[in-house]
Amino acid sequence: MTAIDHLGIAVAKLEEALPFWRDALGLELVAIEVVASEKVRVAILRPKGDAHAARVELLEPTAPDSPIAKHLEKRGPGIHHVAMKVDDIAARMAALAAVGKPAMDSAPRVGAGGCMVTFLHPKSTGGVLLELSQPPAGGAHH
Ligand code: CO
Repeated sequence: MTAIDHLGIAVAKLEEALPFWRDALGLELVAIEVVASEKVRVAILRPKGDAHAARVELLEPTAPDSPIAKHLEKRGPGIHHVAMKVDDIAARMAALAAVGKPAMDSAPRVGAGGCMVTFLHPKSTGGVLLELSQPPAGGAHH
């Protein structure tokens, strides 16, 4: 299984972005959580009633050295990364490393919703910061 899991979108303030994504577009706000490892506060949105649909994750920095703060500084708000869902992240990381596309982490780390995640640098992917995400056993926490 490989499918788009979510789009990560950099925003300065969740509360300023939510009226568009939740209210005007009609997505359901599933959760707001802090991901300490990424220094972000994340608003997770998806189509109402469709737990399997790709999500939109709005990413607000929680510290000046957050990767999202750097993105906002350099490029302003907008798409930060694309996340693909994978069954076995360790096996996928090994397979990618074997073809000269190593992940930015040596081992997966814990991301939003209890997923195990890592990233591939845009230099390896043709310009896309690509997240690999393995849902926790029993499905994502939201
Ligand atoms: Co993500």
